[in-house]
Amino acid sequence: MISKETVDEVLLRTDVESLIGGYVSLKRAGSNLKGLCPFHSEKTPSFTVYPADNSFYCFGCGVGGNTITFIRQIEHLDYPDAVEFLAKRAGITVIRDGENEYVRTGSISKERLLKMNVDAAKFFHAMLFGTHPKAKAALEYFTVTRGLSIATIKHFGLGYAPDSYDSMMKYMLSKGYTRDELVEGFFAVKTEKGTYFDNFRNRVMFPIIDVSGNVIAFGGRVMDDSKPKYRNTMDTPVFKKSRNLFALNFARTTGAESLILCEGYMDVIALHAAGFTNAVATLGTAITAEQARLMSRYTKKVIICYDADEAGQKAAQRALKMLGEVGLDVSVIRVPGAKDPDEYIRAYGKDGFARVITESKSKFEYNMDTILSKYNIEVPQERINALTELVNLISDVYSRAEQDVYIQAVAKKLNVEPQSLRADVDKLARKKAGAFRKNESEKTRREAAGYADRVNPDYARAPAIAGKEENVLGLLLLYPEHRKKVFAEGLVSESDFFTDFNRRVFEYVRVLYNDNEADSTDVNSYFTPEEVGRITKMKIRRMNLTDNSETVLLESIELLKDAVKKRETESVSTLDDLANLILKLQNNE
Ligand code: CTP
Ligand code: MN
Repeated sequence: MISKETVDEVLLRTDVESLIGGYVSLKRAGSNLKGLCPFHSEKTPSFTVYPADNSFYCFGCGVGGNTITFIRQIEHLDYPDAVEFLAKRAGITVIRDGENEYVRTGSISKERLLKMNVDAAKFFHAMLFGTHPKAKAALEYFTVTRGLSIATIKHFGLGYAPDSYDSMMKYMLSKGYTRDELVEGFFAVKTEKGTYFDNFRNRVMFPIIDVSGNVIAFGGRVMDDSKPKYRNTMDTPVFKKSRNLFALNFARTTGAESLILCEGYMDVIALHAAGFTNAVATLGTAITAEQARLMSRYTKKVIICYDADEAGQKAAQRALKMLGEVGLDVSVIRVPGAKDPDEYIRAYGKDGFARVITESKSKFEYNMDTILSKYNIEVPQERINALTELVNLISDVYSRAEQDVYIQAVAKKLNVEPQSLRADVDKLARKKAGAFRKNESEKTRREAAGYADRVNPDYARAPAIAGKEENVLGLLLLYPEHRKKVFAEGLVSESDFFTDFNRRVFEYVRVLYNDNEADSTDVNSYFTPEEVGRITKMKIRRMNLTDNSETVLLESIELLKDAVKKRETESVSTLDDLANLILKLQNNE
């Protein structure tokens, strides 16, 4: 039996993009990547890699899963060998000691790495208050250039990495760490010649602390305009930058009803210093689904406050989408007349920022403003273009009541009749749902013609029910945050499933929900690669369908139960139900 710890570690440390990129030439397509499928022959790419989900799926042959599934298939290995293959690749040593199994990454344990990070934080912090002229300059960078108080510097444990190739190393060696351990912690770099030097040099240091209070990584900023502006700890066994947020350790305990999401360390620190202790920041990457989920554990409402430049506003759009997808109530604020929240607070103070918060815009208002700012609405043709884009925007809104609110707002802004806007919105929504339905039933038909359903042989006996089962399962797999409600309240159970395969998948989702600590919950330890492909497809095809995943899930469960009750065997197919449901809810039927 392979331990959960080993499998988790392997999955954590294997990046789907670089793993598959080693076998298949991939091209970026939006937030995903595409390439020619290595498992069947094709001329146009239908093999897709989903970095946000750490998975892949081929729309041509139905092969899919996570990184372990990929290696199982491409290297023709069984499950334990595939895990071992990836463990080796990631530099993880699995030590078997009788019944027990330990994971060692390189030579260092997580405990030791965490201790190393604390010692490093103490060292950097002490250096900041040192007497060396360069240390003085670093302290002045924080106090004078960035306007921070000593209390704020201490609160965040800020520090300074000396302008030296070995002073950090000397200190850490005296604490008993080896050079190679320091390399694993990202505090030292090993050259090809086998010599070592300090990784962070002449930078002000921001420690990153997780929600349990562990120091897990550092960001180091230059104090002038030299490049690179930041040097950050890369992913280690205790740190994954896509799974953590700066200052969440403070923000989560403030009891505020919202979290403020910024781009930079300095923004967060300035906000906290001004009393907005609910601010957090991503760690130098665009926001990930994991970070969105993490935030949803601590709050229901997020206020996005990104840099004013175009890059910042683009990133805000993406954050709106990501955070909405996990069911968070999201709004956006802009900082007028400043490049970022830090600069804004320094210019307009606490009250200025409080005012900006009261003017925060909902996702719709923000998008409407973005559209309106592109056009001169005094010019008839431009006004029409703006209207077309706005109708498109409203047609994607889920609730009809919400649509009404926006229709009123747009009607007023552009001086048109709300009734005619309503008609246009309905027309477009119908057209979109129709196109979606057609596309989906074509896909299903093509697949049915292509191969017999070996994975779920019951499917053909009750396609309507099986399709509804897949809706429920796909949504439960995609949105872990809704599992609690479903299982704790017993909204659906094994007995509601007609097809054996889908019932097994439901049992698996229950295992995921209970998350047994001892055994691996990886999908590959429960299913054959072919089955994993089908499960992946259930997820993939229900990605990004709606902002209101919880409502859609609950409605899907109702539909499944109704269908089971009636045992009707109409031949409407799979995603038709979901499209119909969304359309029906939009039209308030
Ligand atoms: N970042 C990074 N590496 C870079 C640039 C930025 O990791 N080369 C990350 C850092 O986490 C940084 C955030 O992206 O805090 C936002 O970048 P930026 O606005 O450029 O930096 P700030 O920290 O806001 O610095 P400043 O306002 O002083 O320019
Ligand atoms: Mn900035």
